[in-house]
Amino acid sequence: MSESRDKYSLYFNSVQNPEADIAVMKQAWKSRYKGEMFKVLREDFCGTFANTVAWVKQHKLNRGIAIDLDKSPIAYGKKNYLSTLTKDQESRVQILNENVLSSKLPKADVIFAFNFSYYCFQERKVLKAYFKEVYKKLNSKGMFLMDCFGGSLTQLTNDYSVYFPSMKYTYHFEQLSFDPINSRAKLAIHFRFKKGKPLNNAFVYDWRMWSIPELREILEEVGFKTSTVLWEGLTKSGDGNGKYLPKKTGEECESWIAYIAAYKS
Ligand SMILES: C[S@@+](CC[C@H](N)C(=O)[O-])C[C@H]1O[C@@H](n2cnc3c(N)ncnc32)[C@H](O)[C@@H]1O
Repeated sequence: MSESRDKYSLYFNSVQNPEADIAVMKQAWKSRYKGEMFKVLREDFCGTFANTVAWVKQHKLNRGIAIDLDKSPIAYGKKNYLSTLTKDQESRVQILNENVLSSKLPKADVIFAFNFSYYCFQERKVLKAYFKEVYKKLNSKGMFLMDCFGGSLTQLTNDYSVYFPSMKYTYHFEQLSFDPINSRAKLAIHFRFKKGKPLNNAFVYDWRMWSIPELREILEEVGFKTSTVLWEGLTKSGDGNGKYLPKKTGEECESWIAYIAAYKS
């Protein structure tokens, strides 16, 4: 498989932006805690741990912990991202091939779960057990940040696609089903090229579509002092402007992405 058709690099190019993700984390931290910026960042469901690598590059005191069950993205991250670090930067990264539900994971100032990965937990009691472990492993000045998505489109089958002209491929995020009784959605990511065979079902997901109030209620139940929703602002034409600000109410839309920041103190 050529570099441009490797599923992890296509995924990175299509959906990841570590600098922007870290900027959201810093903004959410500063809005609650005065003084020093966080130093120890734990990336749960880390996949290829691109955010952890970007984090340790940003400051000589930054440390990153990355956790994933699957050896395959971890091996990719070691080969392609870890190898871009200096010896010192690398010494500040800890990669763990573990389950995020484990009670033996390291402590951190900030723990984050991005790209909706915790939606893989279908049952409330399992999600609550995960949030409880996160709470326990945060330092007393500590923040848990997660992204979430929803909207009327996510309750229907649909295929959202974006063409990337520089690499001549189309990214598809296809919703294959939605079961309202269990709020369960099956989704798949495909990459289709101008020339050559498509990479169908490069990633497949079976997710519980958690709502923001459900998530915030569970966060409160496990002990978080407070949580804030960062909701995307709008351009004059009514599209998302890519800027996320604390909001108490949102507006209805076909599809939205938001962040929830939960604070331990
Ligand atoms: C949607 S991917 C997200 C990868 C990465 N966070 C990103 O943004 O690119 C979900 C990842 O979660 C991992 N995963 C699923 N269940 C897990 C669990 N219980 N503990 C640790 N990792 C898990 C999968 O192996 C997969 O790499």
